[in-house]
Amino acid sequence: MTQKYKVILRAEDLNASALFILFEMDRDHFPTPWSKEAWYKVFFSVGQRLLLIAEEDDVILGFALFDITSADSFAHLLKIVVGPNVRGVGIGKNLLSASIMVLKERNIKSFFLEVEEHNSHAINLYESLGFKIIHQKKQFYSSGTTALIMTLNV
Ligand SMILES: CC(C)(COP(=O)(O)OP(=O)(O)OC[C@H]1O[C@@H](n2cnc3c(N)ncnc32)[C@H](O)[C@@H]1OP(=O)(O)O)[C@@H](O)C(=O)NCCC(=O)NCCS
Repeated sequence: MTQKYKVILRAEDLNASALFILFEMDRDHFPTPWSKEAWYKVFFSVGQRLLLIAEEDDVILGFALFDITSADSFAHLLKIVVGPNVRGVGIGKNLLSASIMVLKERNIKSFFLEVEEHNSHAINLYESLGFKIIHQKKQFYSSGTTALIMTLNV
């Protein structure tokens, strides 16, 4: 069993069945999931994205998705999700550190994300890679909860 990390920079390189699995993982395991329409919009609209997929024996274990603004050397983490039965073994950290490496090679110097203030696993993960909390945004999520804004400069 070999774990692989696949880098996808163009929507055309992601097949429909993989896109549907990402949509399902987001719907079932992400605190603020997107609709199917939002997924298509993100992938097929103008703009640059980085998608990193972790897989083992062709089974998708998790993914990280970034929006990239090259002109400002800036990347926004839109989503990171690891399947619940494979959490806590380093996949999230590998996805994030590999994404940062790939984006650094593309001249990205600043990273930005929002995380729900009580999502301690995610906050631990981001802090373990050097992200710092710079701001709190009250009532950021539709549930009314607060988001922490975190950044990393590389
Ligand atoms: C957040 C998430 C991506 C972490 O993925 P993961 O593969 O379990 O994380 P890792 O195993 O790589 O662990 C990375 C760090 O996260 C923290 N972490 C992971 N599991 C944890 C747990 N059970 N308890 C506390 N911290 C934990 C630790 O700090 C760990 O670093 P360490 O191993 O150096 O101590 C995963 O829990 C997830 O998909 N959650 C649901 C979706 C979500 O909330 N995404 C983030 C929204 S902003």
